[in-house]
Amino acid sequence: MEEEIRRFLKTKWAGQNLFCYDEIDSTNTCVLKLGEAGAMHGTVVVADQQNMGKGRRGRNWVSPPKTNIYMSLLLRPCFEAVKAPMLTLLMAYSVAEALMELEQVDAKIKWPNDIVLNKKKICGILTEMMMKEQAIDYVVIGVGVNVNVESIPQELRESATSLRIETGRELSRAALLARVLEKFEENYEQFCKAGDLSLIQDGYNRILVNAGNQVRILEPGNEYHGLAHGINHLGELQVEKEDGTEVSIFAGEVSVRGIYGYV
Ligand code: BTN
Repeated sequence: MEEEIRRFLKTKWAGQNLFCYDEIDSTNTCVLKLGEAGAMHGTVVVADQQNMGKGRRGRNWVSPPKTNIYMSLLLRPCFEAVKAPMLTLLMAYSVAEALMELEQVDAKIKWPNDIVLNKKKICGILTEMMMKEQAIDYVVIGVGVNVNVESIPQELRESATSLRIETGRELSRAALLARVLEKFEENYEQFCKAGDLSLIQDGYNRILVNAGNQVRILEPGNEYHGLAHGINHLGELQVEKEDGTEVSIFAGEVSVRGIYGYV
């Protein structure tokens, strides 16, 4: 895939230092090691298959060969660590934009960072951060997109799908991957300029699947319902509780579900 990606890629820094593997444990694990070894901002690792793909909350990420996108991007931001979770939202927005532009699909975001198509997940993002002397040393953003896979494991079928299953078309993984990196580079520069998500907040909220919906908030030891409005400039979900009070929910240990299911 490497040559194809390089042919499509029109970025200044995102993915210009590119490593492609046929098989790997996890692209995130690989980029964490590269980060430790001093690799540059914008370094990207792509694999055709992962045998220990990592999902959020310690889950694994099913990563069959030669059908999907598995990639991780290394960033060396010079802002405070509290802002790092916003990068995940920035990547979600970039993936959704790339999908809408390149494939004309109706991609939506399930806060904070799942991309859904027809209410089922097609992309997951896992961000990992390493600190040094109380500042960010580097951040790894891993992106898994179900592109051409034709069948989803039974236990995930209710909540997950692929672009191929939803559109009936086979899509170019390299073209999509390159477009995601282009979009991310643009959005990252906007983010650095503003110092927060204020320049992408409106675009993000337009495609937020939760906006205007009842959601279930699952905090450790606490669960409640509310009406989701949208994100603020910090990426926090604004939720109106049943008693009328507004709360800002910070992505972290909190999980948001639709009241009837995944969305
Ligand atoms: C989630 O649970 O939604 C996040 C899934 C993230 C999967 C991607 S695939 C590429 C990168 N490498 C990994 O091991 N995980 C991420």
